[in-house]
Amino acid sequence: MENKKLIFSGIQPTGTFTLGNYIGAVRNWGPLQDEYNCIYCVVDMHAITVRQDPVKLRQATLNSYALLMACGIDPEKSILFIQSHVKTHAELSWILGCNTQFGELSRMTQFKDKSQRHPDDINSGLFTYPVLMAADILAYNADLVPVGVDQKQHLELARNIAQRFNQRYGEFFTLPEPYIPKVGAKVMSLQDPTKKMSKSDENPNAVILILDDKDTIIRKFKRAVTDSDTEVCYREGKDGINNLMTIYSTVTGKDFASIESEFAGKGYGDFKLAVGEAVADHLEPVRTEFARLSKDKEYLKKCYTDGAEKALKYSQRIVSKVYRKVGFVDKG
Ligand code: TRP
Repeated sequence: MENKKLIFSGIQPTGTFTLGNYIGAVRNWGPLQDEYNCIYCVVDMHAITVRQDPVKLRQATLNSYALLMACGIDPEKSILFIQSHVKTHAELSWILGCNTQFGELSRMTQFKDKSQRHPDDINSGLFTYPVLMAADILAYNADLVPVGVDQKQHLELARNIAQRFNQRYGEFFTLPEPYIPKVGAKVMSLQDPTKKMSKSDENPNAVILILDDKDTIIRKFKRAVTDSDTEVCYREGKDGINNLMTIYSTVTGKDFASIESEFAGKGYGDFKLAVGEAVADHLEPVRTEFARLSKDKEYLKKCYTDGAEKALKYSQRIVSKVYRKVGFVDKG
């Protein structure tokens, strides 16, 4: 690979992404490919820390892979692979786990939240989840990791683990930094614009999925919760309208001032319809490309097989050095 900084990120195999995942994360990953070396993976091993139906997990992993490609990740430019295909992640995870304290893992807020939500399945994988995530990143010595705020604490832990390893065994790992995209917006629920848009929302009208068809997208935007005012303008307290303006602005490239003048004297109804249409049109090529890729199973398979091979080759070099450093005997 060329001498550029290395970006690594992983995404959960949910099968489809929300407009929030798309605008806040995945949409920015394509353009990064020119400026950086990029490695992206679908983290199916992380997914099984909560109960999964195996048939659905397999399908969702393949769909997520195809969807990343449909969103502009080019498997020729980046290394794009499925986590469980590359054994170095699990291997490194064991070693890093032996350099992570129980106390540190106990402080992870995601662990605390998830164990509250699944009190009947507080398995040790859920507890060591951040160690596997650190292994994902450190197995490539990544410089930068694009993550949302909910993953900041995990990334901080990955840095601490790397630092501790370096102190014990000599400078080796790069300390990964969070990558904050220049443009990136947080998308809120369409039904409660004070809450983040989340796939687990009980109300399906709150969430736009990037594979939703045009009619569905428009219907959901028409039902979006706003306020009792009538003016389309970005102002404190107008959470619903602010959210719609942010979305409209990211998909059309228009700034807030021009959106305000475009809708001056028009009602919320017109605005919501325009947002729905703009989003649906913007996502149309993603949907079309996803449908095309999904039919071409052979091609997909070739992409993820090649991706895994490249990822293994890259990470194997690093992980075998780690094996030496901790005192394992060379296999020869
Ligand atoms: N934990 C991340 C999430 O839930 C996914 C993830 C796994 C990840 N490994 C990673 C993100 C490594 C960045 C880097 O969103």
